[in-house]
Amino acid sequence: MKIAIGADHGGYRLKEIIVPFIESLGHEVKDVGCTCEQSVDYPDYALPVCDAVISGEADRGILICGTGIGMSIAANKVPGIRCALVHDMFSAQATRDHNDTNVLAMGERIIGPGVAQEIVRIWIETPFSNGERHVGRLNKVKQIEAKYELHP
Ligand code: RB5
Repeated sequence: MKIAIGADHGGYRLKEIIVPFIESLGHEVKDVGCTCEQSVDYPDYALPVCDAVISGEADRGILICGTGIGMSIAANKVPGIRCALVHDMFSAQATRDHNDTNVLAMGERIIGPGVAQEIVRIWIETPFSNGERHVGRLNKVKQIEAKYELHP
């Protein structure tokens, strides 16, 4: 799998831990930055990660900021992106199983690197259930997107 990853200054240090962790799991990483702890704007890193997922250049995306909130808000503005803000292992599993999320957001100021690594491992390795009720709900989410794409 190819994973696109991005962070702002609030998530930079955790990103630097997560990138080699993903590689150690046998996956390829496209790192869009940021490259240091200097203050930047999270939408500038959410967009290239989401673009990579939507274009098919990456299979999934991971976004990290201080809380994960700004990143998840920005990512979910992109049609076709289903981004979950996750800080526990149960949600990491459930959001793949139920929501088929293609982007994961986390907050460096909320969780430690050990929990973050386990969340990433579970989120990467859990398949979508393809359960009928979950597919039906995701189709309803797509209908919401379609409504506002036609009438912005
Ligand atoms: C940056 O200070 C912080 O606001 C940002 O990383 C993020 O938490 C926003 O949601």
